[in-house]
Amino acid sequence: MELLDGKLVSAHIKEEIKKQVQEITSAGKRAPHLVAILVGENPASQAYVASKVKNCGELGFESTLVTYDADVAEEVLLNKIKEFNENKLVDGILVQLPLPKHISEDKVIETIHPSKDVDGFHPVNLGKMMLSLPTFIPATPYGILLMLQHYGIKTTGMNCVVIGRSNIVGTPMSLLLSRNAEPGNCTVTICHSKTKNMKEICSAADIIVAAIGKPKFVTADMVKQGAIIVDVGINRVESTETKSGFRLVGDVDFENVKDKCSFITPVPGGVGLMTICALMKNTLLANLNNQ
Ligand code: GUN
Repeated sequence: MELLDGKLVSAHIKEEIKKQVQEITSAGKRAPHLVAILVGENPASQAYVASKVKNCGELGFESTLVTYDADVAEEVLLNKIKEFNENKLVDGILVQLPLPKHISEDKVIETIHPSKDVDGFHPVNLGKMMLSLPTFIPATPYGILLMLQHYGIKTTGMNCVVIGRSNIVGTPMSLLLSRNAEPGNCTVTICHSKTKNMKEICSAADIIVAAIGKPKFVTADMVKQGAIIVDVGINRVESTETKSGFRLVGDVDFENVKDKCSFITPVPGGVGLMTICALMKNTLLANLNNQ
């Protein structure tokens, strides 16, 4: 088994991004500028946004963090997004999901101008992705493609099972792996909460992408010998072994699956780091398009 090491790959990609930012600024142009909007006090969301802002600093990007209490009116949030849409000094806008129930995620996503939608969640950008037109690819699936590419994993002809059908990960991932590209050209099956013969389907997979949000959901008996395992899960489970009282666990039972597969992403240190890298690549692209 070989680890698909998010630390190593993201460090490599971040070096490339840093160089490109230096080229931009030495040519007298603006560095990429990302706006991150956080609503409420979800600890996982706070951690993700903090990490995104920190990465901006490391890469020479500008960043602006806007935080709102959980009871902020939807209109206030939408107006803020519109203000950033008009601001020529802002390249990318992301609103961390999930949002409190009284705010429509659809409305929020549709309010972000597609040219600044570095999450790639706007219907226009998802439509372009479906048509293989140039656009922002959602960060987690994009990060997974970058990871596979880095390790030279050729997916053409493989049977791929994506577990989970979220708009953010499962659905775009399945599309990207099925399209005529490398990585891609897979025969993709999407499994979800209503799938009946999950074990049978997963056991036939050359690649499993687990994005279901259930700790250790993928067990060794669901994995074919030599399969490639991509674990998107970042589940906080209680632990007596850490100071914080919790630890992060993936959607894959890593300890038991690791000896059966050819490649596997660890949690933490796998897909999560690639997601941030991909977001940074999208923000750089937005900057180049918007100069
Ligand atoms: N919540 C979980 N993943 C993401 C992501 O990639 N972007 C945003 N904005 N929110 C998320």
